[in-house]
Amino acid sequence: MTQLAERYGDRVFNHAALTEDERLSALAQELDPASFRRLGSLPLESGWRCLELGAGTGTVARWLADRCPDGRVTATDLDLQLVQSRHEERANLSWLHHDLTRDDFPPASFDLIHARYLFCHLPSREYDLERVVSWLAPGGWLILEEPALFPIESAPDRAYRETGMGVFTALAASIGTDCRWPRGLHDHLKRTGLGEVDMDIAHSVVGADRPMSRFWRLTLDQLAPALCAIDGITLAMLDETDAKLRDPGFRELGMATIAAWGQKTPA
Ligand SMILES: C[S@@+](CC[C@H](N)C(=O)[O-])C[C@H]1O[C@@H](n2cnc3c(N)ncnc32)[C@H](O)[C@@H]1O
Repeated sequence: MTQLAERYGDRVFNHAALTEDERLSALAQELDPASFRRLGSLPLESGWRCLELGAGTGTVARWLADRCPDGRVTATDLDLQLVQSRHEERANLSWLHHDLTRDDFPPASFDLIHARYLFCHLPSREYDLERVVSWLAPGGWLILEEPALFPIESAPDRAYRETGMGVFTALAASIGTDCRWPRGLHDHLKRTGLGEVDMDIAHSVVGADRPMSRFWRLTLDQLAPALCAIDGITLAMLDETDAKLRDPGFRELGMATIAAWGQKTPA
């Protein structure tokens, strides 16, 4: 594996950055409805032990805690400041400082494990996926939801497309992000030996300062110095894209979200 200079949050997307709460809140606003629908279509039981990995602002963890009142939800992240600033506690929800690439859980600890927009950022994602599957109890479910870049790669608008693809290039170079990997998410889950594997996709539309537009504008803004260091991307292109993403008349596809889920063989 290529040696990377930093990991998620060291500099890129640090939770203390001025706009990181707003950026991740916009992402949650865009993605939560489909996540709740997918999770709600699993045979959730009120006593389930759930694990939410890379919880961000914690919206999914709180939803799971409400749906599993007799169980427990453990929500992890490298940095818990965005959840701690919200002061919304539930008795069956605990927040844990945990680095998925380094820290473990005992085998067979959870009935449901969910992660969203996380594995694309993990350089050791295949190895981590195997470990996460080992944390599932017999009959337990894993559901991953990850961003795919192909709608941006094929965007007709040049400034939007080139600055957007620059985001993936900059993140690959700094923290090892790969937003092509999620295209094969269904097969990645199958290879782990899970059964009942299935998948789903949701597209997003940007323009008119919708939640995905806001998320993408703030992403471009935080990465601006790295983007301007890429051949062919200029500050003028970033300004043009920023204006388009706020424009009520502009429409383009944002990232797609590929979801896949599967079940560990019941006992
Ligand atoms: C793009 S955000 C997504 C947040 C949340 N899952 C959502 O969809 O709203 C990725 C989150 O994963 C966390 N993260 C990144 N690498 C991690 C790791 N190795 N272990 C645990 N959390 C990690 C980040 O701190 C951040 O909160």
